[in-house]
Amino acid sequence: MANSFSGNVFAKPLAVPHDEQRQGEAYRANTETGIELRLQAKKMYLESYGCQMNFSDSEIVASIMAEEGYLPTTELGEADVVFINTCSIRDNAEQKVRGRLKEFRAVKRKNKDLTIGVLGCMAERLKAKLLEEEQLVDLVVGPDAYKDLPNLLKQVESGQPAVNVLLSREETYADITPVRLGGGGVLAFVTIMRGCDNMCSFCVVPFTRGRERSRDPQTIVEECRDLFSRGYREVTLLGQNVDSYCWSSENAPEVRFAELLKRVAAVDPLLRVRFSTSHPKDITDEVLHTMAAHPNIANCIHLPVQSGNSEVLRRMNRTYDRDWYIDRLNAIRRIVPSCSITSDVIAGFCGETEEQHADTLSMMRLARYSMSFMFAYSERPGTLAARKYPDDISPEVKNRRLQEIIALQSELSLIDNRADIGQVFEVLVEGPSRKSNEQMCGRNSQNKMCVFDGLGASPGDYVHVRIDSCTQATLIGTRIQ
Ligand code: SAH
Ligand code: SF4
Ligand code: F3S
Repeated sequence: MANSFSGNVFAKPLAVPHDEQRQGEAYRANTETGIELRLQAKKMYLESYGCQMNFSDSEIVASIMAEEGYLPTTELGEADVVFINTCSIRDNAEQKVRGRLKEFRAVKRKNKDLTIGVLGCMAERLKAKLLEEEQLVDLVVGPDAYKDLPNLLKQVESGQPAVNVLLSREETYADITPVRLGGGGVLAFVTIMRGCDNMCSFCVVPFTRGRERSRDPQTIVEECRDLFSRGYREVTLLGQNVDSYCWSSENAPEVRFAELLKRVAAVDPLLRVRFSTSHPKDITDEVLHTMAAHPNIANCIHLPVQSGNSEVLRRMNRTYDRDWYIDRLNAIRRIVPSCSITSDVIAGFCGETEEQHADTLSMMRLARYSMSFMFAYSERPGTLAARKYPDDISPEVKNRRLQEIIALQSELSLIDNRADIGQVFEVLVEGPSRKSNEQMCGRNSQNKMCVFDGLGASPGDYVHVRIDSCTQATLIGTRIQ
C-alpha cells in the first residue's frame, strides 16, 4: 500500500500529526509557554487497525487526548499511555491485536505506570472480558465512548481498571476537530455517519458500531472548508454505507447523500472529493449524476459485490441480487463513463458451491474491477450467519477459491492499467514515491497511484501526467505540465 489512506482493512501505526500548527494551538490553549509544556507533556502512543473509519476515529481520540495534554509519539518506549484501536471484522484482525498486546507486555514490565487501553471494535465486541483475557489491559473503550476518555483515565490513575462500551444513537463527534495523523497535509478523512443498520449476515460491524446515524451536514462542510484553508486538497467522506446518509432537522428539507456531495464539492473546485463505501442496494442515479456534474468529485466508486451469485447474496442478507448489481454497474458506466469501480469479495461463504464461486469470478470479469479487497470468509460470533449457517467450506477450499479470485483480480488490474497507457491524467501530488526521492507520486481521479518524474512538483499540486507504462498496482508516467 502506498500510503495510509489507500486501504480498506489494514494495519499501520499512526505517526505524529502533520497538523503541527493545530497541535501547537491545543497546547497553547493550556499554557502561555507552549514549548515548556511540550517538554513536560505526557505522551500517547496510538496504533490503529481496521478500516478508514477506525483511522478517522483515532484522529478524534488524538484530539480529545490533546485537550488533556497528551502529545502523540511514535516511540513506544517513551509513552505514558498506549492505545490500540482495534478491528473485529475477521478473526485474523483480532489475532493480530492479541499478538501486539503480548509485545506491549515487555514495555509494561519496564514501565509499571504505563496505561494500556484497547479501543474500537474489539473493545466493543469483547467488553470487560478483555480485562480478564488480557491481564495487562487497564482501559476498554468502545467507538462511541471516546469523549469519556479523560474520566476513564482518571479512574485508571486511581488504580481501577475502566470500561465504557456504551453505544449511542446520537454520537457523531461533530463538535470535535480531529488532529490529522496521516495524509501528509494533503489528504484527509471526514466521517459523515457512524454505525450500520444493514445486518449483512457475515458482518460484525452492526454489533461493534451500533445504529446508523448521520452527522450534521453543516459541520461536515465546515470541516472540509477548514481543511481546504489549511492546504488540504482531498477529502474522503466516510461511512459504512454513504448512500443511506440522511440528515433531517426542523424547518429544513432533508439532506441526502447527493445533496451533501454537492455541498462539499462547492467548497472549492480545487478540493477533490471522494467517498466510501457505496452500497449496491442504495446507490442512486442522482448520486451518479452529481458525480458527472462536478469535475472535483473523483471518478471512483467502491461498490463491494461480496459474491456474484444471487443465492449466496440472499444468504448474506445483502438485499440485492446479481441482476440488480449488474444494473448498477451499467448505470455507472452510462452516467460516469470514466469511473473506476473497485470491490470487496468474500471467498467460501457458508454453503458456497463451485458453481456459485464461478459466478463470483464471472461477475468480476463483467465488472472489470480496477482493484478489489479479497477475503476468505471468517465466521464472527453472534452474527446472523454464525447462528444460521454452518461454516462448512474447508480452509483448503476457501483458500484455493481466494487464490483464484486474487489471480483474476491481478489480471483485471493489469488490463485496466494497460488501457491507461498514452492517456493524460490530472494527478494530485502526495509526495516522493516510496522507491526514489526523485520521483513523486499521487493519485488520479480514478484513485490509481501514479509515479512520475517529480521535478518542481510539491505535495498538494495538481499536475498533468502522461502514462508511459504500468504495473498491476501503479501507473508510471511523465509530467507534461
Ligand atoms: N460497509 C462496507 C463493508 C465494511 S467491512 C460494505 O457494506 O461494503 C469491509 C469488508 O470486509 C466487507 O465488504 C467484506 O468483504 C469483508 N468482511 C466483512 N465481514 C467479513 C467476514 N466475516 N469474513 C470475511 N470478510 C468479511
Ligand atoms: Fe457490514 Fe453490511 Fe453494514 Fe457493510 S453494510 S458494515 S458489510 S452490515
Ligand atoms: Fe472497521 Fe473493523 Fe470495526 S472494519 S468498523 S474497525 S470491525
